[in-house]
Amino acid sequence: MPKRDFLAIADFSAQDLRRILDYAHALKREWTTTGQNRPLLANKSLAMIFQKPSLRTRVSFEMAMQHLGGYAFYLGPQEIGLGKREAISDIARVLSGYVSAIMARVFAHEHILELARWASVPVINGLSDYNHPCQAMADVMTIEEHFGRVQGLKVVFVGDGNNVAVSLMHAVTKLGGHFVWVGPRGYEPPEIAVEQARVFAAQSGGSVTLMHDPHKAVVDADVIYTDTWVSMGQEEEAQRRLKVFPPYQVNAALVAKAKPTAIVMHCLPAHRGYEITDDVIDGPQSVVFQQAHNRLHAQKGILVDVFEVGVPTP
Ligand code: CP
Ligand code: NVA
Repeated sequence: MPKRDFLAIADFSAQDLRRILDYAHALKREWTTTGQNRPLLANKSLAMIFQKPSLRTRVSFEMAMQHLGGYAFYLGPQEIGLGKREAISDIARVLSGYVSAIMARVFAHEHILELARWASVPVINGLSDYNHPCQAMADVMTIEEHFGRVQGLKVVFVGDGNNVAVSLMHAVTKLGGHFVWVGPRGYEPPEIAVEQARVFAAQSGGSVTLMHDPHKAVVDADVIYTDTWVSMGQEEEAQRRLKVFPPYQVNAALVAKAKPTAIVMHCLPAHRGYEITDDVIDGPQSVVFQQAHNRLHAQKGILVDVFEVGVPTP
């Protein structure tokens, strides 16, 4: 049996995503009703490699492992020097002898693929410059909690066609939703990712649309989603980006054009006053903290899936 990595939403079928989401919902129910989870990951360990900062990904994975009876530890950029102090292929093979799985946040997507290629234990992608699949699982989990489904919903991502947009686009189209990206010309999600999403949408009855007019794009939206205009690693482009993105700010005037029942999402960290205004992120339509909290439960679903223990009926 090949090991089960979690590297990209695109690698999974809609049935796989459904299974992982069902695990996440079940483990959240167990946690919130009993205040604990069963030790499904006893004796399992997770190395967490971070080349970039993190609050949510680091803490939610660490706590998820702890709640499930396992153990996780952090390896920061200064410690292992991924690809600098030591070749990625060597790090992957050494760690595989110590731990049961590796989670990594990297700059180049190629590096997470290389880790996975060389590791004999499962590798989980905690964000790369190309995608952020763990985030997308928490996002669709949150959408399901709110609307009961993703199918048929209009999900509008406003801003940069970045790593978060790619994974969200793939998760929404796999699950039969209508995904709209709106942002400045030249900042569309990568073409290859859009082509994949078109295939997923054709299979699920969903759709993908790219637009440039934010006020047209959000009409009838069920979900408005945004993220930073300057991702980690793009700091040198900040000045140029801050000039082109302001028309794509998620503010009260924009949200008013969506359905009155629409929810507003952001993966966080937010840059208040830039991609989103205080009144919107703190307003009644915002679900950003529920979304952030769902990272914990979504990670649990991902972990029990990569370790192939599932969630047995109590
Ligand atoms: N949304 C997210 O991945 O947050 P962190 O960068 O804090 O992990
Ligand atoms: N697009 C952002 C997401 C942070 C969680 C970044 O890569 O910095």
